[in-house]
Amino acid sequence: MKSPERNRVCSVERAGALDISLRKLLQNPQKILKPFIKEGMTVADLGCGPGFFTIEMAKMVGNNGKVTAVDLQER
Ligand SMILES: C[S@@+](CC[C@H](N)C(=O)[O-])C[C@H]1O[C@@H](n2cnc3c(N)ncnc32)[C@H](O)[C@@H]1O
Repeated sequence: MKSPERNRVCSVERAGALDISLRKLLQNPQKILKPFIKEGMTVADLGCGPGFFTIEMAKMVGNNGKVTAVDLQER
């Protein structure tokens, strides 16, 4: 049986670390997603965590688009 430390799913307790402003300098969602996401699109963020990419996706698709964000962890 795997110990909790070997569980590969990012824990909810560590999720806050995914949503820090410094991360945008290294992984800018707008820059990364710009070639793929246009206004009005319907897109999915699978494994969205706390929404680091989700919020930027929503801005990119605008009021006529739709973002569905899914994560296996309820919290
Ligand atoms: C490393 S985190 C990344 C979160 C987010 N995409 C980000 O970049 O900040 C990976 C996320 O994927 C979720 N995840 C892993 N396997 C999944 C699955 N099979 N279905 C849905 N979510 C999943 C985890 O719960 C975790 O929140």
